[in-house]
Amino acid sequence: MQFFGCGNSCLFVASFRHIVVKMDLEIEIDRWIAYNSLINDTVIEKQRQIRKKEREGKKMQAKVIEKFKEIFGAQGDIRAYFAPGRVNLIGEHTDYNGGHVFPCALTIGTYGVARKREDKKLRFYSMNFEHFGVIESSVEGLQAEKKADWTNYPKGVMWAFGERGMKVEQGMDLLLFGNIPNGSGLSSSASVEVLTGYILKDLFGFDVSNQDLALIGQFSENNFNGVNCGIMDQFAIAMGKADHAIFLDTATLHYEYAPIRLEGAKIVISCTNKKRGLGDSKYNERRSECETALAEIQEVVGIQALGDLTEEQFEQYKSAVKDEIRVKRAKHAVYENQRTLKAVEALKNNDVKLFGELMNASHVSLRDDYEVTGIELDTMVEEAWKIDGVIGSRMTGAGFGGCTVSIVKDEAVNTFIEKVGKAYEEKIGYAGDFYVVEIGDGPVKLSEA
Ligand code: GLA
Repeated sequence: MQFFGCGNSCLFVASFRHIVVKMDLEIEIDRWIAYNSLINDTVIEKQRQIRKKEREGKKMQAKVIEKFKEIFGAQGDIRAYFAPGRVNLIGEHTDYNGGHVFPCALTIGTYGVARKREDKKLRFYSMNFEHFGVIESSVEGLQAEKKADWTNYPKGVMWAFGERGMKVEQGMDLLLFGNIPNGSGLSSSASVEVLTGYILKDLFGFDVSNQDLALIGQFSENNFNGVNCGIMDQFAIAMGKADHAIFLDTATLHYEYAPIRLEGAKIVISCTNKKRGLGDSKYNERRSECETALAEIQEVVGIQALGDLTEEQFEQYKSAVKDEIRVKRAKHAVYENQRTLKAVEALKNNDVKLFGELMNASHVSLRDDYEVTGIELDTMVEEAWKIDGVIGSRMTGAGFGGCTVSIVKDEAVNTFIEKVGKAYEEKIGYAGDFYVVEIGDGPVKLSEA
């Protein structure tokens, strides 16, 4: 028998005549493989997980389509889509400093169901915010409004398409459902932005690449929603590739896919359940501190961005920065970029231990120099560091709440969740959530329903 695993599906070249398919073909195949001693256990497990995910994905897809029909009616050309969330492994707050980042897309994200309308009306519904009911708007005169709440994200992307010469002339009905926790630092908003762009491209036939969808998403977030974010989140989501992280130079948008082979370990995301929104966080303030520090350093040396400096060069020029706080912010930006380069090199050399140490150092720098952690993230990470089998642990995303990312040896995952969860709840007073995640692909069209 030959066996090929391929991405999200698998292909068996074998004699199916011997399988008595009674009720569920997939269950029967599971059993059949399990009894076949020629196939290695890990491969069996991996394929079983893939099929389980496919079944779950299909269920989710059916659920969102059904809800769409219930809310907006079953007629016409209804299409379903998915865009992932993202986690950043290392390279935090470097993307608006011309540095490198190392994020990956996740298999959790946002489902979207859409249908074109003949008029100019926009009707939005989110299964995550059902209390808002249907929120209406129009393709004409798009602007951010407080009462429009989450719909400012899809509206912003429609506006940004218009700014790029791709004006959306017809309305649509759009239903969303995200299985990324909102405001958790796993980029639920960038996921909605890239998803919306992908839907507009498919529904209205715009000619736009996935990389452009990332740039349009960032443009809309900066200019429509007023958050000065960098390109990392939208890029990681639009360009995601299963089992790979993206090593992205944010100064040039040059990128490479790096296979993530964590033999014997898993990526665990720990959610602090402290909610945050970039708009009301100190994100924009950090960004402007870095811009001022850069301008001061530019007085003495001709660089374009803090990401151009090595640690030694920074130590040489840092006296140009006239404020101690700004020195710390710029130090983080420079050292974190260098750490990211070293971390990717470590992975290339299969040195997961060094990769983990660099993750830990990243957290310390975000805590002490960049000051974007807080008691919740620090507790989650410091408790993680105490567990045997934790290779590395750090906050991920903007900070000020949200999630941490840890690399944990397989055999330690249960202990990790139990012990870190208990210590976190005791200290913080409410529980965190834990997700063992997998690295997934970028946006996809699921079906026409
Ligand atoms: C948020 C922003 C990103 C990036 C990170 C911090 O997720 O959207 O652009 O700046 O914070 O690394």
